Amino acid sequence: MHSPVILALETSCDETAVAICDGSGTVLASEISTQIPEHQPYGGVVPEIASRNHIVRIRTLVLQAINNSGIHLEDVDCFAATSGPGLASSLLVGSTLAKSLALNCGRPFLAVNHLEGHLLSPFIGHREGVQPSIALIVSGGHTMLLHLRGPGDYEVLGRSRDDAAGEAFDKVGKMLGLLYPGGPEIDRQARRGDRKAFDFPRSMLDSGDYAFSFSGLKTSMLYLLPQLGETVTARIPDLCASFQEAIVDVVVKKSLKAAHQYRAGSISVSGGVSCNHRLREVFAEQCRRAKLDLYLADPALTTDNAAMIAYAALHRFKAGHRSPLEEDVNPNLPLTVA
Ligand code: KG4
Ligand code: ZN
Repeated sequence: MHSPVILALETSCDETAVAICDGSGTVLASEISTQIPEHQPYGGVVPEIASRNHIVRIRTLVLQAINNSGIHLEDVDCFAATSGPGLASSLLVGSTLAKSLALNCGRPFLAVNHLEGHLLSPFIGHREGVQPSIALIVSGGHTMLLHLRGPGDYEVLGRSRDDAAGEAFDKVGKMLGLLYPGGPEIDRQARRGDRKAFDFPRSMLDSGDYAFSFSGLKTSMLYLLPQLGETVTARIPDLCASFQEAIVDVVVKKSLKAAHQYRAGSISVSGGVSCNHRLREVFAEQCRRAKLDLYLADPALTTDNAAMIAYAALHRFKAGHRSPLEEDVNPNLPLTVA
């Protein structure tokens, strides 16, 4: 075990997660308790249910992480927690517990940006560490393209003007009567479908910048469904495959264009949507053709987890960052450079 040892808590939305990593970036434990079944009846995350469940579950997860990592609480050099962006009442649970542990153990506290966690997650487990790359974050809350020059050194090239990619997956899933969250369900249905069955719009593909927009795609699905009448159920796999292809097409092409413009040798992709099978397949194919290295987050680390928060905290800790115990959570925390 290399020092420093980081224990991180992630409670920004509906996953309660605790992880421990050591100074080499090795993840010693990563515990996640998902609340999807609790929110499924409502078709989306209910903030109060989320925060109450975090409180109930987090203590057990901390104990599990300590047990599974083989470390002792006294070995922890820094307690970290996601401080935003996310749901305020959920963020407060992880943040307050990390501060209490820090105070109790006489160790520093570190507030971590959730997006920085996603951004660095493709490099977890790679001996070469964080690599300069064009970085795409595609999650439920965000769709962003960045130039990642190193830990803490980022330039945002573009972001979604309306829905995030995952949000579009979830809303379209709802329209099709699929279970929440729609992303994994659409991915599953799409495997049996024809990607060319429906011609959905590729919004902003040729906009000349790195902005995204997915609301038009969602609207075109909304108008198409009544036209299909009773055949909708039978066409769900085709609808899912064609819809998914439109999103994948835009995010892959824009990422490759940025890699070309910025002369980057690598592309890194993170966030919940990056566990989509078709997205991974097309990125792999296109990066091979363009002779670009591709860093995809491990599928288990694409959706929200605390390993990515511990990993991001490790880089900040090594760079000398510490956060005051007075530091508040911020539901709209922007991604800032170090
Ligand atoms: O990163 P994440 O856990 O939460 C945020 O930080 O927002 O991402 C969750 C999003 C949801 O919108 C979910 O539908 C989507 O990731 N997602 C997927 C897949 N798995 C999760 N979208 C497409 N295909 C998937 N296989
Ligand atoms: Zn996330």
